[in-house]
Amino acid sequence: MSGHNVWTHKGTFLLAAVGSAVGLGNLWRFPYLTGENGGGAFILIYALTIFAVGIPILIAETMLGRTSRQSPIMGMRHLTKTHKTSRAWESIGWLGAVSAFLILSFYSVIAGWALHYTWLMLTGSLVGADAATISAGFDALLASPGLMTLYHTLFIAFSALIVGMGIHKGIESGLRIMMPALFVILIVVLIYGIINGDVRAAASFLFTFNIADLSLEGWLQAMGQSFFTLSLGMGAIMAYGAYMSSEASLTRTAIAVAFVDTAVAMVAGLAIFSLVFGAGLETGQGPGLMFVTLPLAFADMPFGALVGGVFFILVLGAAVSSSISLIEPVAAFLVERFDMTRPQAVTIMVVAAWAMGLLTVVSFNIWAEGTIFHTLFGRSAFDFIELLTNIFMPLGGLLIALFAGWALTQSEVMKELGTNLTWFKTWRFLVRFVGPAAVSFVFLRTIPQVEGYVIPTLGALLIVGAFALSQRLRKPAA
Ligand code: PFF
Repeated sequence: MSGHNVWTHKGTFLLAAVGSAVGLGNLWRFPYLTGENGGGAFILIYALTIFAVGIPILIAETMLGRTSRQSPIMGMRHLTKTHKTSRAWESIGWLGAVSAFLILSFYSVIAGWALHYTWLMLTGSLVGADAATISAGFDALLASPGLMTLYHTLFIAFSALIVGMGIHKGIESGLRIMMPALFVILIVVLIYGIINGDVRAAASFLFTFNIADLSLEGWLQAMGQSFFTLSLGMGAIMAYGAYMSSEASLTRTAIAVAFVDTAVAMVAGLAIFSLVFGAGLETGQGPGLMFVTLPLAFADMPFGALVGGVFFILVLGAAVSSSISLIEPVAAFLVERFDMTRPQAVTIMVVAAWAMGLLTVVSFNIWAEGTIFHTLFGRSAFDFIELLTNIFMPLGGLLIALFAGWALTQSEVMKELGTNLTWFKTWRFLVRFVGPAAVSFVFLRTIPQVEGYVIPTLGALLIVGAFALSQRLRKPAA
């Protein structure tokens, strides 16, 4: 594509990818999953996947975006033509679009909770409150579809506004203000945690490995989490990569993104568990860890309301910088494919994801049990959507690894990577064998254990998808 947009600065891709990677995954999901899955053992699988599988796939996904210089779906179509491979690989783009849409739908609802807690903290409503009051408050929020929908709407509309303003005025400028502020807040919260909490207990909880502590589903969660936290396998990184300067190094950038992302998760984990242990509270609270346990810890601490409020602002900012990267790939596709204006494209994606998000909203109250999702999949709509994304993201990553490692013309790939032969061969070995083997291993080990008709349903979807694709492939390319 001639004249395709590129970020204003060479380093903006790094900023944008870190903005996408660092989010609720680091601040909310990582600590609570670690708490539920026995600490260090979970982190071991998570960290191994990030470094052996995540970084190589991050490089591959960025490269696909940068060589095609288009949105993920159109970009994949373009690459299958120029590299003369099967058009079936285009499914990577579609799988990514579906995952982005599903993630955005629940991501915005959870971020909405943070909006509620920012308000509660800064108004001092929770100062001195006891455990029963705080947990009743969280339950009341979850029981109210109206309140949750309100916050969900505000959050998603704000994210839409940024993406609607375009990649320079909206995304780039937004990130340049938000990201430095987020890092400052994170450090402040860590120092506060060290002073007021029990950082030793936190560190020993996070870094003592006992692999037997990890349940079988914990493996899938740890791998799903490492893809989720790096925003991998779903087009967000590919879409941002399409605007990346040709001069920036793919390898160095990917390592930096993974490093910063992991560091933020560890720092957030340390800060949160310091406060939790310091207040003598439980770690295995699940999704309520950040919304019940943490406010409780803040309730009795000096300046707790202020630091707590600032902490939830951090959560919100990190969530916005991630949710915009979920909107971008689909919006860019609609602009390229249907010639829409950017505001039109963003509106379509966001309104659809907003409506889908209502399923998550009701999963916590009126549809908390006894729905068709419970009958078919043994879990609520929200839990089912989350499980799907835990499967789709590694699946997308697996396909990206295979596509980059086997299907693309390797001389072109080497040129785009722009590194020496040794690193190129190492990277290629990782995406050809190590990544696919690791993802398949975890899938084979864990997926059969998933209860309900999840597997037959996924199988049926796969068959329908393959059929639809084969119909399309028969038509001559437009
Ligand atoms: N990486 C984000 C987080 O850790 O919160 C979540 C996310 C953003 C996942 C964008 C996927 C994505 F494309």
